[in-house]
Amino acid sequence: MTRKLIAGNWKMNGGLAANESLVKAMLEGLASPACGIALCAPAPYLAQLQALLKGSPIDWGSQDVSAHEQGAYTGEVSAAMLRDFGCRYAIVGHSERRQYHGETDELVAAKAQRALALGVTPIVCVGETLQQREAGETEQVVKRQLAAVIHTVGHCISEIVVAYEPVWAIGTGKTATPEQAQQVHAVLRAQLAAATTNPKRVHILYGGSMNAANAASLLAQPDIDGGLIGGASLKAPDFLQIIAACA
Ligand code: 13P
Repeated sequence: MTRKLIAGNWKMNGGLAANESLVKAMLEGLASPACGIALCAPAPYLAQLQALLKGSPIDWGSQDVSAHEQGAYTGEVSAAMLRDFGCRYAIVGHSERRQYHGETDELVAAKAQRALALGVTPIVCVGETLQQREAGETEQVVKRQLAAVIHTVGHCISEIVVAYEPVWAIGTGKTATPEQAQQVHAVLRAQLAAATTNPKRVHILYGGSMNAANAASLLAQPDIDGGLIGGASLKAPDFLQIIAACA
């Protein structure tokens, strides 16, 4: 079985002092984790994470990356800049970016490709809205979102991480049931299997109100290879309990 991956997405939260105490509490509480761990912070704090996490079992990542290589793109952060100081992951296509910043499937795919080219692993988010779920479109939506990335990155698809995040479950306290999540993860796995000989190599994370109480039952599903955690990654005891649920 693949070693699971638990990634925290702090979103637009944090501050120098708060980050330091959060990370220190996490490192103190970490025994010998049975899973990979990553923290994705806002861009200004990446250097702080680099320093705090040096030599620890926790990797770190950004919450976005530019689709462009370099140049006149004010406000953007390139994959080369992230790689420059050892960034391991970049979240791309989070539903909040698709929703509030108009990111299309094609742009998300271009960002994933740019990250891969620089050795930064993209965590590609897919997921349906409540309206799409109620209209019976879940499978169609997530497959369309992943297909754009497969089309763009080709055989490198085995190098990405996928995160299934139903939009209706994000920050709402309404988690997908383990069965609902597994059903979609199985669809995504089958889609990956058609694109790569090694579909099991790709971690498919679940995200959306994952917490200390529901993590174990979600992580017990055969195609759930970890979690992308929002709110609960801002509290060390909760995040540590999710990590412990991987054992
Ligand atoms: P919550 O865990 O706060 O629901 O957020 C999930 C998420 O969007 C992680 O990227």
